[in-house]
Amino acid sequence: MTQTVYVLNGPNLNLLGSREPGIYGAHTLDDVRQLCAQACTRLGLKLDFRQSNHEGELVGWLQEAGSAEAAGSAAGTVLNAAAYTHTSVALRDAVKGAGVSLVELHISNVHAREEFRQHSYLSPVARGVMFGFGTAGYPLAIEAVAGWARAKVVV
Ligand code: DQA
Repeated sequence: MTQTVYVLNGPNLNLLGSREPGIYGAHTLDDVRQLCAQACTRLGLKLDFRQSNHEGELVGWLQEAGSAEAAGSAAGTVLNAAAYTHTSVALRDAVKGAGVSLVELHISNVHAREEFRQHSYLSPVARGVMFGFGTAGYPLAIEAVAGWARAKVVV
């Protein structure tokens, strides 16, 4: 069975390309989707790529991703929770509660920015954290998820 990688994006990431390009670069969210699709094709995975500006919707998607993982149909999840990273206990509880294997991802180097970006509710429940590689971080994160999936296969 071809496993799915969920790539979930939080608030304001729909504005990529025009939003603070000096920090987030020139790629649009659709460009990012294409980078992810190419990585998934190369790695033999299926892509489920989404964006929402609503915390509750992201909670629902994390629960869905956790159920899919438990059923063996998903390999893991890459989440750029954007500003909710720094505020949301609900997202953290969803990752933990739904048993999501998570890469927490940020386009920018959050540790080189304002102090409020240096705390993450997600890092303690993530399996890996990736930040500062620009949008090129997305395919790298998908590669990490593919590695977990390969490591789980018993031959
Ligand atoms: C971000 C970093 C967050 O601090 C910020 O709120 C974002 C994007 C990143 O990808 O660098 O919206 O997650």
